[in-house]
Amino acid sequence: MTSAPDDTTPPTSAVEPFDVVDVIRTKRDGQRLADDQIDWVIDAYTRGIVAEQQMAALAMAIFLRGMERPEIARWTHAMIDSGERMDFQALSKPTTDKHSTGGVGDKITLPLAPLVASYGVAVPQLSGRGLGHTGGTLDKLEAIPGWRADLTNAEMMAQLENSGAVICAAGSGLAPADKKLYALRDITGTVEAIPLIASSIMSKKIAEGTAALTLDVKTGAGAFMKDEADARELARTMVELGTDAGVHTVALLTDMSAPLGRTAGNGLEVRESLEVLAGGGPADIVELTCALAREMLEAAGVHDPDVEAALADGRAMDSWRAMISAQGGDVDAPLPVAKHVEEFRAAEDGVVTGLDAMGVGVAAWRLGAGRSRPGEAVQAAAGVEIEAHIGDEVRAGDVLARLHTDTPERMPRALESIAGSWTLATPGVAAPERRIVMDRIA
Ligand code: URA
Repeated sequence: MTSAPDDTTPPTSAVEPFDVVDVIRTKRDGQRLADDQIDWVIDAYTRGIVAEQQMAALAMAIFLRGMERPEIARWTHAMIDSGERMDFQALSKPTTDKHSTGGVGDKITLPLAPLVASYGVAVPQLSGRGLGHTGGTLDKLEAIPGWRADLTNAEMMAQLENSGAVICAAGSGLAPADKKLYALRDITGTVEAIPLIASSIMSKKIAEGTAALTLDVKTGAGAFMKDEADARELARTMVELGTDAGVHTVALLTDMSAPLGRTAGNGLEVRESLEVLAGGGPADIVELTCALAREMLEAAGVHDPDVEAALADGRAMDSWRAMISAQGGDVDAPLPVAKHVEEFRAAEDGVVTGLDAMGVGVAAWRLGAGRSRPGEAVQAAAGVEIEAHIGDEVRAGDVLARLHTDTPERMPRALESIAGSWTLATPGVAAPERRIVMDRIA
């Protein structure tokens, strides 16, 4: 006979309603997961009931078998429900946010957030750190002396109200299931799956509570989605998830076959962003920044903004200075400079008709701009400065790129990665025209 539990009875472990091995088998065999299986597995994983190995097996099954749209929607909402939801409705301005699926030299958030905020709208950019060959916005901004990524929710709200733009780390309360799962996917070869990327990005954005979202979905050698058809499918899936959740969502499909701009690496990318904010900078960065700014502003009710003028006349730069100094950054301090710089030169004459984003991204990462384990320190000054980009004519011996690092022992492996990155055609041959914005999906 068992006695009735009282205050001194230790809690018995609750009986779980599902067996995780059955859930894994269901997806392994290509079947659709039931709503309550999805709700349970995300919740049980967040609670630590489902082990990392089991979730890794399920993620691989999803990678290989895919998910139907209703499954992706349910998975996304289960991840939202794993944590808190933010609410920007108390702000006196409309909110508009942007998310990029990640690429090489993708520093667009840096000029974009202050540019959009200069129109009196709030831009809450909860950003991440780089892992692998793609850089992270927070790592880039940490190259600015004094700048801090961690803000409380109250600090974030105050900054949105005052200077309009915030770029900071997402608090640990926002979609914690995604935080765990993303770290696991990163080390189990399961990042590049449409259902997992779409639910990861959209769970954070919906939980964040933005009214409008512009997605920059990248395709090409340096993107997670190398294939254009896959990138389109990812964009459509995310637009549908956002729209169904009441977020005004638009996606631009953009080119990531070559690096964006002429730098890849934290401090180097801040420097290039400052050139854009000063009214100059590489044409591809300016084009994409302006295209995304127009979408974000339109969604916030600002029609036909002359965003090029806001870059040229210093409004965006003023907004940048307010945003950076509000987070402790010294806007006038010099950016860090690498201790060692090596030049990589052309072996022959030619016109650059291709520049492999992956080769450049991996080189920057190997130089110390990125990390190979979560939590590892990155070098603020490490990275690649591109001297010859698509369309440029070079002579044998001309500098194609400068490699920056504080630790010269990293040079040989970085050079190995970058060596085959340029495609040169006979001088006089026209380079193919590069379309930065390939399509708009709404
Ligand atoms: N960015 C995310 O936040 N999640 C992914 O899965 C991929 C890119």
